[in-house]
Amino acid sequence: VTGRLSPLQQRLNWVETHPGREWVLALENVPQWDTWPVLPTAPPDPLVWTYSNSRGTHELITRVCERERATGRIVESASVLITHGAMFALGVIFRHLNALGFRTLLCQAPVLGSIHELASASGLRPTLTSVEDMIQVLDGPLEGATVAVYVNTPHNPTGSVLDQALVDALVTRVGQRNVALVVDSVYDGFNFSPDAAPRFPVGTPGVFLVNSMSKNYGAPGLRVGWILADPRSVAELTARLEYETIAVSGVSQHLAAELIRHGNGPLVDRVSGGRRLIVDWWAGFDDDRPVVAEGGTQAWVPVPDSAADSDFTDLLMHAFGLVLVGSESYAGVTGSYVRVPLGCPVDHLRHVLDVLEKSFARAAVSVGRSDIR
Ligand SMILES: Cc1ncc(COP(=O)(O)O)c(C=O)c1O
Repeated sequence: VTGRLSPLQQRLNWVETHPGREWVLALENVPQWDTWPVLPTAPPDPLVWTYSNSRGTHELITRVCERERATGRIVESASVLITHGAMFALGVIFRHLNALGFRTLLCQAPVLGSIHELASASGLRPTLTSVEDMIQVLDGPLEGATVAVYVNTPHNPTGSVLDQALVDALVTRVGQRNVALVVDSVYDGFNFSPDAAPRFPVGTPGVFLVNSMSKNYGAPGLRVGWILADPRSVAELTARLEYETIAVSGVSQHLAAELIRHGNGPLVDRVSGGRRLIVDWWAGFDDDRPVVAEGGTQAWVPVPDSAADSDFTDLLMHAFGLVLVGSESYAGVTGSYVRVPLGCPVDHLRHVLDVLEKSFARAAVSVGRSDIR
């Protein structure tokens, strides 16, 4: 147990306790609404006064099914479990898999540091691999073991989208061996690829899809997400959710249902505009590594060699007042990167890029180090 907050949360705390300074905040990759959608202010009775059903409200489950069907997934109501966001959904699935005897989690690298920690804390040993090597690793050293696989598409932080051939190869192994597949789809509303999104056989035993309101609808404060799985696994996961937390807030579920009905078009447009802006900006650097891939809500920007340093994001914060995260927030990153959120107001994004550009130019100059990690 590290007992340590994530770099993101540490930085947030630092900023909150140092209000005298003008910080340029670019920590979260949650797309921001220009104008918040109008949601009901008074939740209908009796949502505040009763527990919701442990699997979720009928209203939200129905809305999730409609939303998923609109993305081409055939989803029955019995395949849906409403959760407190995707992070909690992953925790419930990891603990469930551990209880079933799974001990290894083969993760697509890089992986968010907190998901890596969550896997370990759930009794699954995270093993990192690139997507290119995933099948080879699964068929090689791990063959015969009870292995869960974690993939994230579109991927945080790189934005890459899994190709159908890899998905099919993974699904085949779920059918034939002791393999479970956990698909983190929290950015699936932000896939800018002209090709069809990868298809997963929802409802197949051993396949678990995780989704959330946080990024797809710009509403992390609701703390609402969902799992799609086969009905038997949903029933088992619901029993676990009940003894761990009883049920998700009915008020949040009602707001989530309204927000799904409203849609997320403006957020997708904003991220799309942010992608164009950063690609133009990056063209001014002599570096042919891409900063965006097919999807996601952020760019993954390589720090030029002249400035690269393992503590580069600390330096950005303390020397330039620019608060964001980078390589240190992920497991399995090679090299120094910063994560630039693309779903913020365009003037803010321009400002972030200006400061970043100055920092790249001046970072070679030695600056005092901070005492926070
Ligand atoms: C890949 C990935 N999965 C899960 C989550 C957690 O989402 P939620 O806010 O729904 O718990 C995040 C949030 O950053 C994420 O990037």
